[in-house]
Amino acid sequence: MTDPIIRAVGLGRTYPARRPKRATTALHPADLEVAAGESVGIIGESGSGKSTLVRLLLGLDRASSGTVDIAGRRVDSRASARSLHWLRRMTGVVFQDPYASLDPRMSVGRIVGEPMWASGIEPDGAKRQARVREALAQVGLDADAGVRHPHEFSGGQRQRIALARAIVHRPEILVGDEPLSALDVTVRARILDMLRGLRTETNLTLVMVSHDIGVVQNLCDTVVVMSEGRIVERGPVAEVLRSPREDFTRRLLAAIPTLP
Ligand SMILES: Nc1ncnc2c1ncn2[C@@H]1O[C@H](COP(=O)(O)OP(=O)(O)OP(=O)(O)O)[C@@H](O)[C@H]1O
Ligand SMILES: [Mg+2]
Repeated sequence: MTDPIIRAVGLGRTYPARRPKRATTALHPADLEVAAGESVGIIGESGSGKSTLVRLLLGLDRASSGTVDIAGRRVDSRASARSLHWLRRMTGVVFQDPYASLDPRMSVGRIVGEPMWASGIEPDGAKRQARVREALAQVGLDADAGVRHPHEFSGGQRQRIALARAIVHRPEILVGDEPLSALDVTVRARILDMLRGLRTETNLTLVMVSHDIGVVQNLCDTVVVMSEGRIVERGPVAEVLRSPREDFTRRLLAAIPTLP
């Protein structure tokens, strides 16, 4: 295998005790490698550490153990401004609660354009605006969405705004934490098409937390199954879904009504 674009070694996170709560090990030391252009789905029950894992991969949380390298560069929440800048350029992120990441005082156009502006990718204002309109169209929003504000949109539309913001600067890696969960069936199908298109056109690497096996089947090559802060299974989607090795995975799949 060529060098992975994401390599985590012994990556773990324990949240210290805060009385009356005991310390929580959200992620036991885990290894994970993702090849460039690969699409990885992360599944597992609530509280199994999925969000913790993706936050650590992006240097958004401080690991208690282990290391993360992205394209051969060390990622660290205490990294220099320059390397954080580089990381923001490489990656696009959609969080579980997209509304929290949309500044209510900013127009949608500014919100979506911000990653380009912040990373200095497109210094030309007119070109930036054109790219914002293009990204809004890619997620199926009208061009006039740009002059409106987040509160004027529904939950699903806001999720699409967050997605437009995550792809606007053409990142090499897109990380999503349930990025499609608030979308209705038609919109979800459209976004899945768009993401598949990006994968083939740009060799985008995808890491996507999803409770929706349909999404994982549709979009991912590999699936990572988490349980109680551990990666309990990892393999090609079709293989894992067809013959899950772990008891836990079997139960998880059995509990999902959409699985054919
Ligand atoms: N900032 C924090 N401080 C203390 N404990 C935390 C913190 N963040 C997460 N945890 C704990 O770590 C564990 C894993 O949480 P995490 O958010 O990674 O789960 P998840 O798999 O994303 O769940 P969900 O599907 O509900 O989003 C949980 O027990 C959670 O309570
Ligand atoms: Mg989560």
